[in-house]
Amino acid sequence: MIFQLSEEHLMIQQAARDFAQQELLPGVIERDENQKFPAEQVKRLGELGFLGMMVDPKYGGGGLDAISYVLAMEEISKVDASVSVVMSVNNSLVCWGLETYGSEEQKQKYLVPLAKGEIIGAFCLSEPEAGSDATSQRTTAIDMGDHYLLNGTKNWITNGGSASVYLVMAQTDVAKKHKGINCLIVEKGMPGFTIGPKENKMGIRGSDTHSLMFQDVKVPKANRIGEDGFGFKFAMKTLTGGRIGIAAQALGIASGAYELALKYSKERKAFGTEICNHQAIQFKLADMATEIESARLLCLKAAWLKDQGMDYNQAGSMAKLFSSEVAMKTTIEAVQIHGGYGFVKEFHVERLMRDAKITQIYEGTSEVQRIVIARSILQ
Ligand code: CAA
Repeated sequence: MIFQLSEEHLMIQQAARDFAQQELLPGVIERDENQKFPAEQVKRLGELGFLGMMVDPKYGGGGLDAISYVLAMEEISKVDASVSVVMSVNNSLVCWGLETYGSEEQKQKYLVPLAKGEIIGAFCLSEPEAGSDATSQRTTAIDMGDHYLLNGTKNWITNGGSASVYLVMAQTDVAKKHKGINCLIVEKGMPGFTIGPKENKMGIRGSDTHSLMFQDVKVPKANRIGEDGFGFKFAMKTLTGGRIGIAAQALGIASGAYELALKYSKERKAFGTEICNHQAIQFKLADMATEIESARLLCLKAAWLKDQGMDYNQAGSMAKLFSSEVAMKTTIEAVQIHGGYGFVKEFHVERLMRDAKITQIYEGTSEVQRIVIARSILQ
């Protein structure tokens, strides 16, 4: 067992760190305040190859491994989780799903521009009455011969307004329950497809979260991913990898907050000395560092299993469950170490605290991760 990153991994980590510090940090507070989608920053992500990192170069991707993806996600999330969620959804849910299960025609038409970062995608599973209980899809895709007729509403869709391509789960045969669900590729602009207003969120406020409405949208049969009825399995398999991305996002939010708190504790004086000399602060820093390192090991282990072609279902859920809880705990402590300054926007930690919360909710709540882990342990 070698706990050492390769030269290539270190280079990717450094490239992501430089990008985050130089191009994401300026303006991050204003983007959060004004709920501004980071369009320019996402364009740069694409130019630098961060939107299709793991896709085969023959489809326009970077051909990198999942470990590289975790390293880059951590660095970018340290600074701007509104940007890293775009990166996570595009890489793990949209590109991976299309590359693994799409037809050659679908790959040429959709995967290539997505992997190059020319366009971004969205993954549409959640509904007003189907969040954790994902088998209870109400959106319908009626088989009309050469096309499906899509009707329904999707909720909380990341990249909802800015995506060009949407992977939409819908029920074709209700009697078959989850085995009657299909995943359809829907393009922005298809008649009958409308996008609701942007959600006004507590955290990741720059990211673009919308409801989507489908009314008699004609989706060609050629846009179905996989065999008839494969949609639920597709969603589950895709989310399994997505959880590694969100785990790495949570890790980055935690380590970003920790680094700020550590620096502040060496500068701020109270009771005649820098506050890092007080044991009350030292104990907090020691716990933060230990928990972050544990989360990092879980994220890298899950990514390594994926890279080896081994089962990463349990490991991905463990990484997401633990990292998101560490993100919440660490950011709360980072605000506490900053005292009154932690409560104002200029010091960044309050934003990281708000951003941390969503990592316990999206791509499966902490409760869903516990279900996945428990089933894996007990099987
Ligand atoms: N891989 C492959 N297949 C899987 C699977 C996996 N990881 N997990 C489940 N399945 C299969 C099962 O084998 C089963 O198939 P069979 O009937 O053929 O055996 C089928 O799927 C149904 O599985 P379950 O009976 O286990 O389903 P369940 O109703 O008990 O639910 C669940 C299980 C884990 C709770 C699941 O519903 C789930 O993951 N829910 C959370 C959904 C979620 O993560 N939503 C996030 C939305 S996306 C998002 O947030 C993106 C974004 O924009 C940021």
